[in-house]
Amino acid sequence: MITKPKGCSDIYGKEGRYFRKVDQIVSLMAEVYHYDYIRTPIFESSELFHRGIGESTDVVKKEMYDFEDKGGRKMTLRPEGTAGVVRSYIENKMYGNPVQPVKLYYSGTMYRYERPQSGRDRELTQFGFELLGTNDPCADAEIISFAYQVYKILGLKSVKVKINSLGDSSSRLTYREKLIHYLKPHIDTFCKDCQTRLLENPLRILDCKIDCNHPILKEAPITLDSLNQESKKHFEEVCSYLDLLKIPYEVDPTIVRGLDYYNHTVFEFVCEIEGKNLAIGAGGRYNGLVSTLGGPQTSCVGFASGIGRVVLAMQEEGVEEVEDSIDLFLFYVNEEEKKYAVFLSQELRLAGYKTEMEYLGRSMKAQFRQADRLKAKFLILLNSKDLDQNEVKVKNNQTKEEELVHLDALIYYLDEKMEENNEEEIFLPGKEE
Ligand code: HAM
Repeated sequence: MITKPKGCSDIYGKEGRYFRKVDQIVSLMAEVYHYDYIRTPIFESSELFHRGIGESTDVVKKEMYDFEDKGGRKMTLRPEGTAGVVRSYIENKMYGNPVQPVKLYYSGTMYRYERPQSGRDRELTQFGFELLGTNDPCADAEIISFAYQVYKILGLKSVKVKINSLGDSSSRLTYREKLIHYLKPHIDTFCKDCQTRLLENPLRILDCKIDCNHPILKEAPITLDSLNQESKKHFEEVCSYLDLLKIPYEVDPTIVRGLDYYNHTVFEFVCEIEGKNLAIGAGGRYNGLVSTLGGPQTSCVGFASGIGRVVLAMQEEGVEEVEDSIDLFLFYVNEEEKKYAVFLSQELRLAGYKTEMEYLGRSMKAQFRQADRLKAKFLILLNSKDLDQNEVKVKNNQTKEEELVHLDALIYYLDEKMEENNEEEIFLPGKEE
């Protein structure tokens, strides 16, 4: 038997329905927050990630799926979405769009060669938002609140928002010096990778997978103490906008993020899953990435979330299962009735009803069983005699009440009955319940 690659999943059934729910809420919310959809290639030239994410990050050093195409070009399966979105922003000159800033969202698979475990996959699906072209702190707050509202609407109650600031490039430099000075005398007690990181990129020691809990790091200097006036002001404004929006958050100086393109605000959304704190989403400001990749100086902020982890968190919190149920099931026995079932199911689907019919020519008893398995709300029983009178029998599958309904009035009748049945609605902020 050929099996799936390690760290990959077949997502279907109940899990597939949770995934779809996340995607649905994200796209609905992206509309109200006015983020346009973008889809970029799953593979890009390797150079994009080397330059964009940073040579000394774990993602680039250890986790990239690199390959050479048949023309000898070095390619990489994308490990995240931001670099590709920024490449597209530059290549398509979106910085020249009349409407600014540019607000984009995406959802797709990413690839990281990691050690697979619960919540850590090699093929993962992320959704993400990027707001390109403004340095206003209200944009940082908008991205954080947008993500927070998505999680709330999905039913996650215990999600925690942790934020920090790395400051601008000059604050980061001051911090780098302080950190090197602090760590140098102890660096022999750290892993080999961290020893090379000390001069190359000391910030990456703080989120090293081996040494992130090293006792020396507990007393390490924090980025917030190295912020210059401007960076401090930016961070204070982000916090005050979050207060205004009533987004609960915790300032956590240990958040430094594992990708090199960040400055100023960085944040993570954390949930407890199977006894461990896992980031279900994360992001931050990246004011230098567009120019690093050859575009004009552009201030940006963004966020991405692993849908697999969001689904784990939904299951952990007991968010109601997304049921596989239908509105209508069409029954028939003979060939003439079947033809009408084929025709009518198309009409009912186009009218917006989740409709199923019999495909296997089973007995009425077996069709009733199938309709029950699918939790059909109403049953439509097609019978040649009724059809001659342009009528069908409609049965409420809960109350078992049955009525003959004229075909011309069928949609109207169903609209009324369904409303009485009290359809569950997706709740969007500001929408009347
Ligand atoms: P990241 O922190 O590398 O940031 O990934 C974002 C989220 O993707 C994580 O919080 C986690 O939920 C999920 N994730 C990452 N790796 C895995 C994995 N191996 N298995 C399962 N889930 C995973 C970024 O990717 C940035 N592009 C975020 C961003 C957007 N920053 C600015 N704009």
